[in-house]
Amino acid sequence: MTQYVAVAQIGDIAPGELLRVAVGRHLVCLANVDGQISAFEDDCPHIGGPLDEGDLEGHVLTCPIHLARFDVRTGQVLRGPARDQLRMYAVRVEGERIWVAAPE
Ligand code: FES
Repeated sequence: MTQYVAVAQIGDIAPGELLRVAVGRHLVCLANVDGQISAFEDDCPHIGGPLDEGDLEGHVLTCPIHLARFDVRTGQVLRGPARDQLRMYAVRVEGERIWVAAPE
């Protein structure tokens, strides 16, 4: 059964913002797109840039290192040089609290 970890409060991340949180030993980036929270590994699949320091416009995240672009709702690569999609984590929002599925 999937275990969820409370990582933040909804007030910690305004629409259009990114936030780095820890889920066990993993660094996870949260993104708020119009109130919808998504979560993915905070490690660019190209060569490991800190995605929470990237630029989020709508649902498009640009990596700060080599400017690869991703859809934060799905993890899909929109522009290289990255080839692999983001590693996504399941998210639940209950009341004010954001929960992220712990990696297996
Ligand atoms: S490290 Fe993200 S595009 Fe290269």
